Amino acid sequence: MKIRPFAFSPADYRALARVREAVHPEAPLNIAQLKHLDQTRSPDEVLKRFLVEQEGQVVGMLEYATPYHNPKPGALEVGYHLHPQAQALATRLWAFLLERVAPLKPRELQAQVREDWPEFGFLLAQGFTEVERKWVSVLDLTRFDPGLLQRPLPPGIVLKPLAALPWQEEAFQRALYHLELELLEDVPTREPITPWPFELWRKRSLEDPNLLPEGFFLALEGQEMVGLTMLFRSHRPQTLQTGLTGVKRSHRRKGLALALKLRAAAFAKAHGARYIRTANHQANRPMLAINEALGFVKEPATVALRLSPVPSPH
Ligand SMILES: CC(C)(COP(=O)(O)OP(=O)(O)OC[C@H]1O[C@@H](n2cnc3c(N)ncnc32)[C@H](O)[C@@H]1OP(=O)(O)O)[C@@H](O)C(=O)NCCC(=O)NCCS
Repeated sequence: MKIRPFAFSPADYRALARVREAVHPEAPLNIAQLKHLDQTRSPDEVLKRFLVEQEGQVVGMLEYATPYHNPKPGALEVGYHLHPQAQALATRLWAFLLERVAPLKPRELQAQVREDWPEFGFLLAQGFTEVERKWVSVLDLTRFDPGLLQRPLPPGIVLKPLAALPWQEEAFQRALYHLELELLEDVPTREPITPWPFELWRKRSLEDPNLLPEGFFLALEGQEMVGLTMLFRSHRPQTLQTGLTGVKRSHRRKGLALALKLRAAAFAKAHGARYIRTANHQANRPMLAINEALGFVKEPATVALRLSPVPSPH
């Protein structure tokens, strides 16, 4: 076995995509998004990725990095994949990882894996414990009938796509950023979300190569933004990916989230997509209720794992 640093070259991104496809065909990598994310890392963030080779063939990958969504001092997010016939290498990869992260003195290792992947059992065996679950769920638009769910919007509210709004102007972007911050505070995660600073948010969200300004909807009351939902392009065929959905506290339980999701579904259909994917935390009953009513079907859960304290290398 050879573990070599990832070169961040087009060839290595392709090799990474191939190995992921072979290991987890149900969850292919979004390479455009991964590249964009890698490029928006700041110099003080950790990002170490390796390819695992056997007889000249890439059979796996390993990574440790500052957590992308919730950068927390002392925490590193780790991940690995190995070909089914190379699973026996997991123990050696783990030893390599512990040696590499030791100088960084992490207080906690984090991982996110699907409950039906071999990584889940392996990481549990290394002492990781489960923190929370998220469900990816999928709506098949060919089986979707919005008819029964449609209701008139509350008076004074209109829904508009980003494309019809001055989203390239900084004042507008700052208002959108503040709405997202307010909504993120209410997403029921086990650990509070540390929001990205404005400039990083702008780069990661509004310059995301998968951004679809026509599929990103805002609920407006006059000039005020009171809710949103957003669909992004996906690397999966015939699919659009949901980002954040949320409605300001003052405007909840008036049917706005449902109306936004219905508008997004109508857009997706007109756009020629067949599937909409979304991810929800297990504790988010309101959002799960809306998605269940729309007909989203859950996939196996993605489990957030933690290991603290981090064992020393042998
Ligand atoms: C989840 C959220 C978007 C719902 O917005 P909303 O505009 O209040 O939702 P709607 O009024 O469209 O609700 C539609 C239906 O969903 C269900 N629902 C909504 N909120 C609910 C709640 N708090 N508890 C139980 N069911 C709820 C109800 O069946 C509701 O219909 P009803 O009001 O006729 O009973 C909102 O609570 C929110 O912004 N939460 C914080 C952000 C978040 O967690 N977003 C999801 C993560 S991506």
